[in-house]
Amino acid sequence: MCGIVGYLGDKPAYEILVKGLHRLEYRGYDSSGVALVSSDSKLNVYKTRGKVADLERFCEEKDVDGTIGIAHTRWATHGEPNDINAHPHVGRSGNIALVHNGTIENYHVLKEALELEGCTFKSETDTEVLVQLIEYIKEKNNCSLVDAVRGALKEVVGAYAIAVVDTDEPDTMIGARKSSPLVIGIGEGETFLASDATPIIEYTDKVVYLNDDEIAIIRKNEPLQIVNSDNMPAAIDIKTLRMSVSQLEKGGYPHFMLKEIFEQPRTIHDCIRGRVASSGDEVLLSGVTEHKERFLNAHRVVIVACGTSWHAGLIGKRLLQEIARIPVEVEYASEFRYSNPVLTPDDIVIAISQSGETADTLAAIQMARKCGAFVYGICNVIGSSIARATDSGTYIHVGPEIGVASTKAFTGQVTVLTMLALAIGTLKNTISKETRLQIADAIRALPTLISQTLKLNDSIEKLSGIYTYVHNFLYLGRGYNYPSALEGALKLKEISYIHAEGYPAAEMKHGPIALIDHELPTVVIAPDDEMHEKIISNIQQVKARGGSVIAVVTKGDTTIKEIADHVLEIPKVPECVSPVIVSVPLQLLAYHIAIKKGCNVDMPRNLAKSVTVE
Ligand code: AGP
Ligand code: GLU
Repeated sequence: MCGIVGYLGDKPAYEILVKGLHRLEYRGYDSSGVALVSSDSKLNVYKTRGKVADLERFCEEKDVDGTIGIAHTRWATHGEPNDINAHPHVGRSGNIALVHNGTIENYHVLKEALELEGCTFKSETDTEVLVQLIEYIKEKNNCSLVDAVRGALKEVVGAYAIAVVDTDEPDTMIGARKSSPLVIGIGEGETFLASDATPIIEYTDKVVYLNDDEIAIIRKNEPLQIVNSDNMPAAIDIKTLRMSVSQLEKGGYPHFMLKEIFEQPRTIHDCIRGRVASSGDEVLLSGVTEHKERFLNAHRVVIVACGTSWHAGLIGKRLLQEIARIPVEVEYASEFRYSNPVLTPDDIVIAISQSGETADTLAAIQMARKCGAFVYGICNVIGSSIARATDSGTYIHVGPEIGVASTKAFTGQVTVLTMLALAIGTLKNTISKETRLQIADAIRALPTLISQTLKLNDSIEKLSGIYTYVHNFLYLGRGYNYPSALEGALKLKEISYIHAEGYPAAEMKHGPIALIDHELPTVVIAPDDEMHEKIISNIQQVKARGGSVIAVVTKGDTTIKEIADHVLEIPKVPECVSPVIVSVPLQLLAYHIAIKKGCNVDMPRNLAKSVTVE
């Protein structure tokens, strides 16, 4: 979900567009491009895989004339990152260029219909379908660009922010959005479009945030027009920006990590979009449907991953065993790769990796393939090394994760694993229709439940002040939330540098309880599930030895409220999706403690976002 920049005015557009792309680089991307309408109404399009600097080198000897243009940094969702799939995409006449952020869910249907009308496609992207559809409608109806855009967007299902230019209307630029953000900058005799205000702020502080289903019509020497999908004029609400570039990059949040924690309602919505229908129990994962026999006949699943992704794998084990009744082993990729594993072609290896570049996980995959196992990837970065090394897979679609400590990627991974378990359980008929519906309803409810849980932020910020200078923390959980305890401990230790250990709660009596005293706080994950009574006794054991307890409980749990020192109340959720909800207060607790300690939460010491070495 990356970056768009558009310019229409009297200055050379190229410099403004490329500078704007540099402003958007922080969002993470894999390719970039620019389209310029020259002063003699020619369309020049330059695009390349790689960095914006690569695009600049590519453009050095090119004709970059023109005072109107659009540009894009791509975060691939459909089609590998390469020069052809990079944006802008152009219609078959070569007159219309378009850039797009988002995903068009029904692009297959639209593409087939256009192919029947004689359209041919150069790229694998969903975006090219949109520009071809716009051009088809424009030619068929002999209408204006804006009417063609409006007609095309009525056919589209999915998320988009777009900018469009057309040499037939060389003084016009069109912007439109649905779910993906688009900002209009109002300058003196010039107008800007961008995915956020960072490319705009140095030219003007007057902006209009386009709303869903609105279309901006920008024409030289004419006032901005905004219409809705029914072509009715929409209000133009001009705001004055009061944020620095750095603040804008973080969406107004002080750190990428906090922004990404608060993005989770949207990123989980994006993760399940097109996969879990708005009602019913059906879940559609192309990686499973294309390999049904593999999943039907699998004797065993081995999950390989590192760090937070390994914690997601532990939750995946519970999900796949409980819902799909498949035996599952979870291995650290770094251990697996040297363990001379016994794998057969009847095994499925699931590799989980946000970056898709973790060396240990990549090596584990290569080991698994040598043994003939079928390898399934769960990655965030399209076209990453791990994604390309697997036989099939499911992308988590949470957008670039900038903060080194993984947050939205973790909840995206667990959500995909839940959908995967449901898809395989349905295929193997290991769960009743009623259970399928319960799980599908729980997945659909996740964005709302996360939004509700994020309301704990202020109380957690206050609570963090009590525990800022402790030296050790213990995290306890049971069942699905034993891995949640491990993940909560990792979040705290990797950004606050406080030693923290996660443990299965019942293991306390086998040693760790010797650690408990008034200097060792314990976080206990205690939702209202079948282990509730047992976790209460664990809390009592800690309290009896002078330890303080922060309990994550289901809203309204008066019992634990009586015995714990602090409670963080989350909405009631089915156990199988509770780790997604439980992780939110634990992410916030780690964040606020680290901030109070003055730590660099986005780039913690000694850590890298992607561990591409052994
Ligand atoms: C998580 O907060 C850490 N940054 C780290 O453990 C990370 O999960 C691990 O390095 C695996 O990375 P990957 O998911 O990109 O493979
Ligand atoms: N879905 C489009 C593609 O894969 C746009 C991706 C983006 O938001 O950058 O090219």
